[in-house]
Amino acid sequence: MHEESPIRYDEDRECWDVFRYDDVHDVLHDPETFSSERPLTAQGEGETDGMALETMLNTDPPRHDELRKVVDDPFKPGAVKHLAPHIRDITNEYIDAVVDDGELDVVADLATPLPVTVIAELIGVPADDREQFKQWSDTIVEGPEAATVSAETVKEAQLQAQAEMATYFTELIERRREDPRDDLISDVIHAEVEGTTLSEGETLGFLALLLIAGNITTTNLITNAIRCFATLHDGIESVRDIASLELAVEEVLRYQSPIQAVSRVATTDTRLGEHSVEAGDRVVVWNGAANHDGDKFDDPGTFVPDRSPNQHLAFGSGVHFCLGAHLARLEARVALSTLFDRFETMQLAETELQPVESTFLYGVQRLPVQ
Ligand code: HEM
Repeated sequence: MHEESPIRYDEDRECWDVFRYDDVHDVLHDPETFSSERPLTAQGEGETDGMALETMLNTDPPRHDELRKVVDDPFKPGAVKHLAPHIRDITNEYIDAVVDDGELDVVADLATPLPVTVIAELIGVPADDREQFKQWSDTIVEGPEAATVSAETVKEAQLQAQAEMATYFTELIERRREDPRDDLISDVIHAEVEGTTLSEGETLGFLALLLIAGNITTTNLITNAIRCFATLHDGIESVRDIASLELAVEEVLRYQSPIQAVSRVATTDTRLGEHSVEAGDRVVVWNGAANHDGDKFDDPGTFVPDRSPNQHLAFGSGVHFCLGAHLARLEARVALSTLFDRFETMQLAETELQPVESTFLYGVQRLPVQ
């Protein structure tokens, strides 16, 4: 892909695809030419207007920078660091709940609930409501639990969960307005952007973004890590000898990037390599492919746990560089080290793994280990 057609136009999907590291990097660092603002036509009316809200993810500077400033501090490395012991406790609780079964599905038993719980706590969801909150999040991301339901039923359940969660947050926002706490909801409600506080809709947009951007991605990072470690010549046990879990997690992010691509829209007629791109064209940059570019990484098809330097683009690059990168890294490192402390040996219990159903996400639906 990198050599044969590093940049190509896909007639069916009506967009440009960009695969090479340097090209992906350049697009992400030029928000003036390649905008994150969604084209107006992509914004439906009525039931989906919750996601058409303006968030930092779909605005460009300078508005983007103003919105991002509101929640930048709580996600900085120094601010998330103190969460480590708590993340370890939660991980232990999830392991305790299934350890007697002799088998643990990394996806369902650990990697899905962990990020939801952590972000719920940061946002400020009271402890008593977290179980309900997790159910809504699960339904929104995966659909209802029943094994065989129609696509329509899934959609209905997802819309209902979204509506219930929005109502719940609206009430919580009201409570925090009167009685602020040391949590993200209170930060967002009381922040001023360009001299005015955010509307209720904008506040909801913030909370929705934090939930949606951070959960399935971190789930996939933790799960992909176990899969990558299993590919090492002497299996998952050898992870104990990995000199640095920090470097190994970075290599998982490069080798099996949880988000494979992000998209932009050209604001003006421009050039991408030797191609002419017109204003309004959609440009999809494949950071997952860029992370396998042989011009940037030696032996890119091999998982090298202590690869260094490792300037992967798994969290994007430029102004939209992932807000939750430090939190996701911390969750992954703590969850993995806790797992390896608890289990002396670990093997994949299944080799036929079902990928998650998505073009842009990279992960598996279940990952049983024993
Ligand atoms: C942005 C990946 C975890 C919140 C991004 C972007 C990527 C990404 C590629 C750039 C999007 C773009 O350029 O259009 C990931 C991966 C994660 C992860 C791979 C886990 C392994 C999280 C977590 C949170 C989060 C835990 C929050 C709690 C965000 C937000 C943005 C973002 C708010 C938008 C930032 C902006 O527009 O300035 N993420 N993310 N992410 N991520 Fe993450």
